[in-house]
Amino acid sequence: MTGRFKLDQPLPGAKFGGRLELAISSTGAAGAISSTGAAAWIAAGEAEPSALPDALAAANGLLLIQGLEAIKDEPGLLVRLSRLFGPEIENYRENLTPANRVHAAVPEILVVSNLPPVNQMPPDPPEPRLAPDGQFPTQFPQRRGWHTDQSFRRPPPDVSLFYAAAPARRDQGQTLFANTALAHDALAPELQARVATLEGLHCSPGFGRGRVAVLAGETPRALAPHERSQRQPMVRRHPVTGRRALYMCEMGQMDFIDGPIIGMEKGPHGAGENLLFALMAHITRRDFVYVHEWTQGDLVIWDNRCLVHAASWFDAKAEGRVMWRTTVSGNPDPTYAGEPKSWIPRDPQPRERTAAQ
Ligand SMILES: [Fe+2]
Repeated sequence: MTGRFKLDQPLPGAKFGGRLELAISSTGAAGAISSTGAAAWIAAGEAEPSALPDALAAANGLLLIQGLEAIKDEPGLLVRLSRLFGPEIENYRENLTPANRVHAAVPEILVVSNLPPVNQMPPDPPEPRLAPDGQFPTQFPQRRGWHTDQSFRRPPPDVSLFYAAAPARRDQGQTLFANTALAHDALAPELQARVATLEGLHCSPGFGRGRVAVLAGETPRALAPHERSQRQPMVRRHPVTGRRALYMCEMGQMDFIDGPIIGMEKGPHGAGENLLFALMAHITRRDFVYVHEWTQGDLVIWDNRCLVHAASWFDAKAEGRVMWRTTVSGNPDPTYAGEPKSWIPRDPQPRERTAAQ
């Protein structure tokens, strides 16, 4: 890191991630750095464009920046910070995300909240509430909902930013992160070799192709070409770090009609599911997980290319939680070089597009 930024790693209780700090200066190259507030971060990041992406890579895909309370009153700052991590910031108004989930003034912000107008309830608590060792559970299948953002798109997005405008109390509403590069490195060599050439089939939630929908006998909806499930390599080579990382979701964002793994027995209880679930249980071992307890003004930045994450329960009757998400894409990746965006209709009559997750 440069003298302007300091990376304190790993994050507490984890083997990866880092808390990034900005040195206070009144004479920095940006000329206007007089505090560590959001505007100072943007000035420092814009003055040294590689610094924040380099920090994300150095921290193995997870950064925490604290004390950004100013973003709550000036949400456009979150978009400027997001631009430091890649050229394209998703506009949620353009991808037809329901309007109640999009920030009224800044369409690049997806609002995740149990409060009106979003009214999105938290996931159920794990059952049982504690892991066998008495600790907060992290491991699939006791802990559900592990995914990497928008993996049903090719090219998939690179980085997500999640900001605590009004988090739940500190022992609730945590976000869990698992590092799939560490998990990949810890696989037995034979299993590493086996998954290296496999592809998963990823689908958008709500299309009737996830495991729960298939088991319930739902009729899957007919899909336009731009809505179809997408193949993704189960092992990705990170275009910046060169590290290999497992790339998969568990049950809601994988296609359990034609997948979840290409070329293996399809559907629930098949050989594809068996391998997928074994890998997801491995990825989410406590060894590879960081649990973030949120404080107002926290910003967590994660690399979807080498992490999976999951939400956790909070008491929605007692807590009014408001979190803001942005999604960054468009960084070079040879795996997807030259591909058109799979989710953009290519016929002359644009049809409804897939809602973002
Ligand atoms: Fe997510």
